[in-house]
Amino acid sequence: MEIVSTCSEMRKLVLDWRRNSNFSICLVPTMGCFHEGHLSLMRTAREKADRMVVSLYVNPTQFSPGEDLEQYPRNMRKDIHLAENEGVHCLFTPDSSEMYPDGFQTWVEVTKLSKGLCGKSRQDHFRGVATIVAKLFNIVQPDVAVFGQKDYQQLQIIRRMVEDLNISVEIVGYPIIREKDGLAMSSRNTYLSQEERKSAVCLWHAINRAHEMVAAGMDSCSELANHLREYIKTYPATRIDYIFIGDPDTLEKKETIEARTLLAMAVWVGKTRLIDNTILMGTSQN
Ligand code: PAJ
Repeated sequence: MEIVSTCSEMRKLVLDWRRNSNFSICLVPTMGCFHEGHLSLMRTAREKADRMVVSLYVNPTQFSPGEDLEQYPRNMRKDIHLAENEGVHCLFTPDSSEMYPDGFQTWVEVTKLSKGLCGKSRQDHFRGVATIVAKLFNIVQPDVAVFGQKDYQQLQIIRRMVEDLNISVEIVGYPIIREKDGLAMSSRNTYLSQEERKSAVCLWHAINRAHEMVAAGMDSCSELANHLREYIKTYPATRIDYIFIGDPDTLEKKETIEARTLLAMAVWVGKTRLIDNTILMGTSQN
């Protein structure tokens, strides 16, 4: 596995792969501290192209002031080992002087899709995500890029950006990988205390409840959201940021749970903000 930390070296490597061997390239963008979710994306990426690049960069511009940029878990040595085991061909580990050199002032904004859900409480978060992902696409020029459905809104925003800016890359979405008890894997789970870890499973239980209620005929988005809100409140140390039930493509709210309706949630457990989502399959014809 090659470890490359400058944009020029990264460009040269992919150019050599293409020119000399006509290799196709798949990119998995990450912020490191790899868990099974990340590793599953890598396994999928390996099947999608001849060469796999994983980027590892904790992107400061997607953290709002007061968020956890400083504490964000980092473990480069372990990550190198894990990536090597997954057959990653190149780990791209730029620093901020490479990604945001002096004078940097160009941003990518996916306006409408970035407004609701996580965009409401995380100011400029998706502008930071879209900008860094666009930069990574330009540097690596992958044929395919793999993203997790765990960050559902992020995935939709990236799909929109690729479409709107005519970026020539196929975006692959990968299902959410969970712990045994259902908690969606996340680098931020490491922040949870033992007690908080018990409450963290509330998102998964709420998802299961939602599926059961929809299967039993519940078709009102607001009634379901109210029910889930009351349910989550019964878990100690939880505070709901949002419960969204609506259109999985436009991320607009809906009144009725029709076939394919997105349920997405963000819940604070202690000082840790957790997200999760699912697609509800309503039976209402409205
Ligand atoms: P990060 O949180 O490190 O996640 C990297 C990729 O792993 C994302 O596509 C994310 O959706 C996916 N992922 C995380 N947890 C997952 C899980 N439990 N199951 C499946 N996939 C999971 O997302 C980011 O980094 C950044 O915003 C990034 C896109 C790299 C831009 O900086």
